[in-house]
Amino acid sequence: MTKPSLRPADAPKPSEVTPRSVVEQRRDWLRLMAGAAAGTTLAGWAGREAMAQGQNAKLAAIKSAVPGALTMEKLTSYQDATTYNNFYEFGTDKSDPARAAGALKTRPWSVAVEGEVNKPGVFDLDALLKLAPMEERIYRLRCVEGWSMVIPWIGWSLAELIKKVEPNSRAKYVEFVTLADRAQMPGLRSGVLDWPYVEGLRIDEAMHPLTLLAFGMYGELMPKQNGAPLRLVVPWKYGFKSAKSLVKIRFVEREPVSSWTRAAPQEYGFYSNVNPKVDHPRWSQATERRIGEDGLFAKKRPTLMFNGYEAQVGQLYAGMDLKKLY
Ligand code: MTE
Repeated sequence: MTKPSLRPADAPKPSEVTPRSVVEQRRDWLRLMAGAAAGTTLAGWAGREAMAQGQNAKLAAIKSAVPGALTMEKLTSYQDATTYNNFYEFGTDKSDPARAAGALKTRPWSVAVEGEVNKPGVFDLDALLKLAPMEERIYRLRCVEGWSMVIPWIGWSLAELIKKVEPNSRAKYVEFVTLADRAQMPGLRSGVLDWPYVEGLRIDEAMHPLTLLAFGMYGELMPKQNGAPLRLVVPWKYGFKSAKSLVKIRFVEREPVSSWTRAAPQEYGFYSNVNPKVDHPRWSQATERRIGEDGLFAKKRPTLMFNGYEAQVGQLYAGMDLKKLY
């Protein structure tokens, strides 16, 4: 078996085609929508709009009040965030998902929630869009390969869904399973990972308010290459925890084995917390390259403990040896 690997960062194209003004316009629009319906849920509107307009529909959102949810750093351009992707179901090159994911059919779509819960169920996408008020969260996301982005996501805390299904006392972990459809996903022909792509969190990590079920970004429904129609975003963990195109959420008693852990257990542990002090066996994790800051003289940034979310999530790991439990 060839050794699978998330490849170390290769040089991205220095293209920032979407001007900042366009991003700003999108954000103004968001603010307008949020202001117009202050205090009310806009998710119903978003759901109808999504149906009416398909993939290009705008998602309205209220700015999040969750502590740590609105990083003030400069946003990554929409162009970079949607053309430099990891979504191995569509190929392993950074440009493959933008090229190959267009054919992904994201409607109808449903997510099965099962396992150790009192109220399992199959949730239709439209029901999920309306399940809780949409919020905008501006998160840093750092890939294990050593690059990072700052993206304005739209969604709501996964905890909202978890509360609805009522986990029982055996629900210690949550397993996330994503779509694996050979007819739509050319990357499944490669054996780079065991499909479907599976990830997992401890139940308290899944319940943390920063853990986001995201339906969109930059004020729009999720682009396919970024994990349409819904994905996880766990900002204090390496990007591979943020599973795309979710179809199943399972509550389990034992620690799930993620696709990356199965492929290379010595490189990708269950926790995968961003930790500059724990090197990847093949490279340092002390610094990162912010996508878009790739000029000749651009300096790498120091990587922050828990990706900068230590104040919010540090206590989840109190007393744990994070070098062992990497
Ligand atoms: N989800 C699925 N289903 N398949 C994948 O290959 N790649 C992961 C994660 N989620 C991946 C996935 C990795 S390695 C990263 S860094 C992020 O998605 C990248 O998200 P982005 O392309 O939106 O930046």
